[in-house]
Amino acid sequence: MIYQTLQTSLENNTYIITVNRPEKLNALNKTVIEELSAAIDEVYSNNEVKSAIITGAGEKAFVAGADISEFSQLDEHTGEALARKAQKMVFDKIENSPKPIVAAVNGFALGGGCELALACHFIIASDNAKFGQPEVNLGLVPGYGGTQRLVQLVGKNRAMQLIMTGEMIKAKDAQQYGIVNKIVSQKNLLDETKHILNIIHTKAPLAITKVIECINNFDHTQQGYDFEIKKFGECFITEDAKEGAAAFLEKRKPQFKGK
Ligand code: COA
Repeated sequence: MIYQTLQTSLENNTYIITVNRPEKLNALNKTVIEELSAAIDEVYSNNEVKSAIITGAGEKAFVAGADISEFSQLDEHTGEALARKAQKMVFDKIENSPKPIVAAVNGFALGGGCELALACHFIIASDNAKFGQPEVNLGLVPGYGGTQRLVQLVGKNRAMQLIMTGEMIKAKDAQQYGIVNKIVSQKNLLDETKHILNIIHTKAPLAITKVIECINNFDHTQQGYDFEIKKFGECFITEDAKEGAAAFLEKRKPQFKGK
């Protein structure tokens, strides 16, 4: 599929989605949101795709936010509709993807860009990456899930401070806060992210999907534990769980089929 605002490629079963508006620091306009939605659908449906990476074109920005030039047309109802549609079409779909989707953050990840990275299953960042939710500078609150997902990663008080000040933090601080898993040079960012995904590709795909479901259903109450118990049981329906145990006992590498 040819996109206007994205570049895509499939390398070793990893679908690389690059937001490609470097002249506007890859800001998320309506077309980017629609095309990201279609690209995520491709991750779900294409059997060749085992994982995905989301990154930004150029050396300066991952995504510098929602496209501010589209905001002047919004009123209460269209603003709410925009946030609802984007959350459903892109952000929730990334979070709930049955295949791992990793953000390779190569520069500014601000506003909707930070939220895009937060929706991914985890984040690898280059050493020049910067994170922030500067919506309050525009008289806004985050609308693509930032108030919810940031709290889960950094806790309530840090999320309050980051979102209320709109401050930008460096990759190192983002790592210390638990937003970023690993920092690498910009040159090595994609290779390192692909390397991690190649490790995940050797595991049982249905187990990976269940891991995503269990962790996304994290709950302080018994419900989270009950969900995990159910998913653990379901694994024993799969051929891959039989193959995993057999391979261990026969001292060989498992051949997982995703069945
Ligand atoms: N929406 C629309 N356009 C954006 C944008 C956004 N979120 N972020 C950057 N751009 C555009 C700029 O308007 C500029 O376009 P122009 O060359 O046609 O004027 C271009 O991208 C380059 O940005 P510029 O501001 O000149 O780069 P900089 O290096 O001076 O500053 C930032 C970089 C990221 C600090 C600055 O662009 C910025 O603050 N962006 C907005 C971040 C934001 O508030 N995001 C949340 C939106 S809800």
